[in-house]
Amino acid sequence: MDKLLVHGGTSLSGAINISGSKNASLPILAAALLTEKQVIIERVPDVSDTNYMLQILSALGCEVERYSGTVKITAANIHPEAPYEIVRKMRASICVMGPLVARLGKANVSIPGGCVIGDRPIDLHLKGLQGLGAEVDTEGGNMCITAEKGLIGKEIDLRGKHGPTVLGTDNLMMAAVLAEGTTIIESAACEPEVVDLADFLNSMGAQIEGAGTRRITIQGVRSLGGTHHTVIPDRIEAGTFMVAGAMASEDGITLNRVREDQLTEATHKLIEAGHLVTFNEAGNSVTIQPGDQPSGCAITTAPHPGFPTDMQAQFTAMFATSPGISVIEDTIFPQRFMHCAELTRMGANINVDNGSAIVHGVDQLSAAPVMASDLRASAALVLAGLRAKGSTEINRLYHIDRGYEMIDEKLLQLGAKVERLRGSI
Ligand code: EPZ
Repeated sequence: MDKLLVHGGTSLSGAINISGSKNASLPILAAALLTEKQVIIERVPDVSDTNYMLQILSALGCEVERYSGTVKITAANIHPEAPYEIVRKMRASICVMGPLVARLGKANVSIPGGCVIGDRPIDLHLKGLQGLGAEVDTEGGNMCITAEKGLIGKEIDLRGKHGPTVLGTDNLMMAAVLAEGTTIIESAACEPEVVDLADFLNSMGAQIEGAGTRRITIQGVRSLGGTHHTVIPDRIEAGTFMVAGAMASEDGITLNRVREDQLTEATHKLIEAGHLVTFNEAGNSVTIQPGDQPSGCAITTAPHPGFPTDMQAQFTAMFATSPGISVIEDTIFPQRFMHCAELTRMGANINVDNGSAIVHGVDQLSAAPVMASDLRASAALVLAGLRAKGSTEINRLYHIDRGYEMIDEKLLQLGAKVERLRGSI
C-alpha cells in the first residue's frame, strides 16, 4: 500500500487546476446504461472510484474507452448482473440500479457494506424504485430488483431521517426517465452533482425539470440518445485546496477551473474564520490568502445548500491550529470523526462527543505516522501534515486515491514537500 510523506513547514504558493467532480462523474457514468447509443463524457477524474465504476460498466457488457479524462461508453448489449467483487469496493455502485431496472426491467446488485463514516442504508433508494412499481428481493447479500411490466411514474417523497439522499435522488431520477408517465420526486437532494446528472440526462433526450430544487418532475420518454457532456468541477477538491491555502501558505494560492456558485458555504466559513477569499470576474478562479487574525468558528453540516459534510474534516484540520474554540457538528453522518483521533496524535486538542467535535486551537501540530480512514478524513491528515513540524507519514493512501486526482502532483505544483512511497502490491 502506498504511503504519503508530508514534510511540514513549507509555505504553499502558485496555482493548480481543479479536476472534474468525482461525485458528479459516478452517477453520470452509470446513466450511460440508459441508452444503446454512445455517450462521451469529458473531465472524468482518473481516481479509483471512477475506475471501479468503469469496471462495473464493462462487466455489465458496455464498451468502454478512456483517454486523458475523456470516457466513451456504448451500452448496446448489457445484462443486469453487477459483479460483487467490484460493487463491494464502492458504495456508489448502487447507482447502476435505477438505470438497469429502467433499461432491462431487472438489476442484481450486491447490498453495499457500511463504511467508517457511518451506517450507509439504502432504504430510500429501494423506496423510490418500489414507488415506480419495481419489486425488491434480497438473496445471498444481493438485491434482485425486477419490473417486468416496466416502471410507472408516481409522486414519491424521498426524505430520510437525515434529510434528502443524493444518490437516492439520482437512482430514482434515472429510473423515472424511461418510466411511463410523470414522476415527481419530493424532498429531492439539490446538490450541484444532482443538477449535473439531470443536465446529462436532458442532453440525452430526457424531460427533467426542477433539478436543484427539492421537487423534481420527470416526464418519462420511450428511449434516450447519445450525448457529449463535460462534468462540473469537483467542489470538494476545490474546498480542500482552499483550506490548504488558508492554513499552509503565506501569500496565498490560486485554484483554476472552479465554480464560485458551488463554493459559497466553504467561502463564507473561510471568511468567517478570518481568511481572504477572492474570485475572478468569471467566478472560475479563486485566490485564498491566510488572514492575519484567524479564529475558530462553528460549523453544522446540512444537505445542500448547507455546509457540505464532505468538507467538515478539512475544516477541522484547519481549526486544530486556529486560535479559539471551534465546534463542528455533522448532522448527516454523526460518526464522521475518524480523523479526530489521528489529528489528536499530531497534538490537536479535540473532543468528539455525540455527533460533534470541539476543537481548542493549539500553536503547533507535530508530525506522526497516521492512518487514513476515509476519503475526506485522509485529506484532513494531509492538510495537517502540511502545517505540522516534521514529516507526517500517511498510511493507506488508497483512501485518498479514491477521490483526489493526482493529489501529490498538485501539492508538489504548489511547492509542498511531499513524497509518495510506493508500497508493495
Ligand atoms: C453522497 O453519498 C456522496 N457520495 C457522499 O460523498 C456525501 O457525503 C453524501 O452524498 C452526502 O452529501 C457520492 O456522491 C458518490 P446520502 P450518498 O444518500 O448519496 C442517509 C465523499 O466523500 N440515507 O445523501 O450515499 C445516509 O445514511 C462521499 O465523496 C438513508 O437513511 O449519501 C445519510 O445519513 C462520502 N437511507 C444521509 O441519508 C438511504 O437510502 C445522506 O446520505 C440513503 C441515505
